[in-house]
This record gives sequence, structure tokens and C-alpha cells, in this order.
Amino acid sequence: MFYQVLPISFADSNGDGKGDLPGFLGRIDHLRWLGVDAVWMTPFYPSPFRDLGYDISDFCNVDPVFGTLADFDRALDALHAHGIKLIIDFVPNHTSNEHAWFAESRSSRSNPKHDWYIWADAEADGGPPNNWMSRFGGSAWQWDDTRGQYYYHSFLLEQPDLNWRNPAVRAAMADVLRFWIRRGVDGFRVDAAAVLAKDDLLRDDPPAPDSSGKPPPQRLNHVFTDDRPQAMIYLEEIRAVIDEFDNRMLAGEVQGKIGRIGHFYGNARPRLHLPLNFALLDSAWDALSLQGTIDAYYNAIPDKAWSDWTIGGHDKKRIAGKLGPFQTRVLAMLALTLRGTPFFFAGDELGMEPVLIPDDKVNDPFERLVPGYGLNRDPERTPMRWDGSANGGFTSGEPWLPLGEDVAERNVARLMADPHSLLWLYRRLIELRRRESALSWGAYQPLRSRHDILMYKRVGGECEILVALNTVHQPRKCTWQGAGRLLLSSWLDREECEVEGPMLLRPDEGVIIKLRC
Ligand code: NOJ
Repeated sequence: MFYQVLPISFADSNGDGKGDLPGFLGRIDHLRWLGVDAVWMTPFYPSPFRDLGYDISDFCNVDPVFGTLADFDRALDALHAHGIKLIIDFVPNHTSNEHAWFAESRSSRSNPKHDWYIWADAEADGGPPNNWMSRFGGSAWQWDDTRGQYYYHSFLLEQPDLNWRNPAVRAAMADVLRFWIRRGVDGFRVDAAAVLAKDDLLRDDPPAPDSSGKPPPQRLNHVFTDDRPQAMIYLEEIRAVIDEFDNRMLAGEVQGKIGRIGHFYGNARPRLHLPLNFALLDSAWDALSLQGTIDAYYNAIPDKAWSDWTIGGHDKKRIAGKLGPFQTRVLAMLALTLRGTPFFFAGDELGMEPVLIPDDKVNDPFERLVPGYGLNRDPERTPMRWDGSANGGFTSGEPWLPLGEDVAERNVARLMADPHSLLWLYRRLIELRRRESALSWGAYQPLRSRHDILMYKRVGGECEILVALNTVHQPRKCTWQGAGRLLLSSWLDREECEVEGPMLLRPDEGVIIKLRC
């Protein structure tokens, strides 16, 4: 089970209002208490920080805001000492425009790194080479006076795309992976894994169907920049570097429709171990839609692939805002009882909801460049709340983003003191999942979900565990037949008792029942 940490929002040790690595080190006990297996940490590298550190100016160092390489080593050692693994972001697609490679590349058309980025001549009228759009709005091409050419940027113009067709670029990025693996990291989350290759004919993207009302970048169908066959070959090369070492893994960001997820795993030639699956976040929240979503996902991945379920992240709206406090508990039970590795985001265990960001505090460039479509990602990126003190114990200074109005009710100390809280539910579910091997490794066996109750079994060896989740705020009849031992209710007020089906589930109640073992 992975716990995603945004270092800038986790814990601040020096009062500058931004989280840092020493702050993270000081909070590792929280991860131990929860029982997490592994942490995914988002970028902490030197960066002008125009896109939350995904604009990197040196891949093999730590930004002074976060500390030093020695701080990183200390944090990694402490995680490992407690049996917790660490994966970090690998951002292969682009650098910051302040990276030394880009400075060299833009300096002339003849320098040794002249084709480390994607450069193209202007059209006859001086305009950009084609209609490709940046995900953050506007043309994806930026004119550069020194070169007298355009360069391509999938994201911000301060994030020029590397030219992965160039073997020297691929070799340099392979060395970045080796650098961190030799320092001891257990793997990587590959950023923007789908966009590494672009059409070399620079063909124009077609208009997207039904795009009226969509934000401008989504009005084109990005067929010539996304998910190109060549990108899969690059992922295979990245995987080959990982496989030079024992026991390292690759997760990856592969936004898009479920049907696309299968090929990111690869078949004969392996690619990512865990392409991140956001299907639960995108699904409508009712038993029938959820059972359809789960089925579609399992059917879309290769037979031997291991699945994963992501319920939060720094680019996704906090789901507690959509589901409310009661169904958020049902979601926790769902994510921690499905077959596949759950990924959740720091603060999900507190039920953090999107935080309202005043206009003068907006930080996310997405919101500034494509305003008015609700794309701001700041509301999910706000700091962790450790206690009910000023600024939630996150910082003694001015927090880089506001903490929200509900810190006094929703913070680690407060929820830890309440054995029925969502925080405890997470801990209990994690513990149960580890204890019951059918829950960790068993097959997923769908049952017919009816009457607003999502039902399935996990079956491993002789053991059979039934999961039944009431997706509404009224009592509902759960139609299974037989007898079993109730291991846990999402209300955390009954456990280890004999039950018989059919049974009534209380509003918003999920139950885990051992049928056989
Ligand atoms: C994906 C990251 O998750 C997102 O936060 C970022 O804006 C883009 N990649 C560009 O790096």
C-alpha cells in the first residue's frame, strides 16, 4: 500500500512555510502507526518551482528549500529501518528551462546538445510548426530568439520537452535512474509516461469530438503527441535500467481511458509494474457503476499484471469532497479490500476535503493559464494537519497554501484520539489486509451487486472473504446466504462476531466477513 507525500505540504522544520525533508523525517512515526508499506514522494529536486517542482533544473540533487542530499539519505535510511520502501518521481519528458542542458541547447544550432530538446523551424508566416497545444493552454511551441526556432513544451513554456529520439538524452536519463537507485530508492513513479514520443512528421492533431465547453487544451485529440507506439519502446528501455538492479519497481502516470492501461504494462517486453489507475476516482458513486468500473479495469489489464487502485493525488480533486464523510469510509474499505495495490494521498486518511483557495493565493499555473474550468489543483495540495494548533502543527511560519477551515476537527492528533475515526479505520484496514492473505493476494470474485450494495469476494487458498459495501445513506438489505465471521465494520463498532445472511447493513456501512478458512 502506497502513501503519496508532497514534501512541500507534509511537515515544515524551519518555519519557512514549506515542508521539507527534515520535517518529513520527523513525521515518519505517523507512517509506521498507519502501517504503510511504501511512500511515493513527489519532486524535491532543484527547481524554479513553477509547476510544483515538476520543472527540474538538476535531476540529481535536492532543492535547498527541502534540504540536502544528506537529509534525503537520512530520510531514506529511516524509512528502510522501519521496513517502509520509497519511490520517487522520475520526470523524463521535460526539464526546467533553467536546466543547464537547455541553456546549452538553446545557445546555438551547433552546440553538442543542440538536439537534446525538440526544436523546429517556423512556418512560412512565422507561426509555430503545427497546431499542437500545451496541456496548460496555448500553443505548445515557444519561439526562441537565439536559435531562431521554436521549441516544444507539452506543459509550461518553462518546461521544454526533452528529445527522446536522441540516444544521448536516453543515456543521460538512464544515469539519473541509476544515481537514485544507487542511493537506495526502491523505484520510481514515471511522470507523464504517455507523452515521451511525438510524431516526427509533426502532423496536426485533429479536433476532439464533442469538445464544446471543454477547456481549450482538450479541444484537440492529442493523437500525435500522446501514447505513441515509440513511447512504449522508451518505457521498455527505462524498465531495462530498473531491471539492472534487484527488486526495484516502476509506477507511472498514464492518464486516460481504462482501455489504454493494458499496454503500459507490456507483455513479452515488460514496461511499468503499476500504471496508476484512477478509475475509482472517475467512477460514478453507486453500486452498479462501481461494479462496472471494477470489472472493466480488471478486464483491461493483462492476465498476469498486478493491479492498483489510486484514490487521491496531487492532480486529482480530493474525493472526500465528492463523497462526504460517510461514504469516504466506504471508499477506504473498498480500496483496501480490492485486489491490487492501493495508493492514497497524505491527508486522505483524515478525510481532507478540497480547501478553498482565495484568488490572491492561487499557486497552480493550470488555474492561472486556463481559468474558469475548475482546473485549480491547489485545493488538494494544501498542507497536512498534525494537530489543532495554529497552522495545524505544519509550520511555525506562514503556510505556502492555506490549511482550510476544518483543521480543528480534522487533524491527526484529534482523529488518533478517537478510536472510531476514519484515521483508525485506515489503520485497522491496513492491518487486516496484511493479516488476511486472501485480502492481500486472493483472487477477486465479483458477486451480483444489488439494492445499492456493492459485493465481492476475495478468495485465496481455503479462505473466502466477503466484502459488502452499502453505497447509500439508508439501511439496505444485503442478500448473501450463509454464515460467517464479521471481521470489521466501517463504523468500527462491531467486529469478530458471528453473522448470518441475508443481513441488514446500516446506512453507509461496509463489512468484511470471513466465510471460510
Ligand atoms: C504530471 C504531474 O503529476 C503534474 O502535477 C504536472 O503538472 C505534470 N506532470 C507536468 O510535469
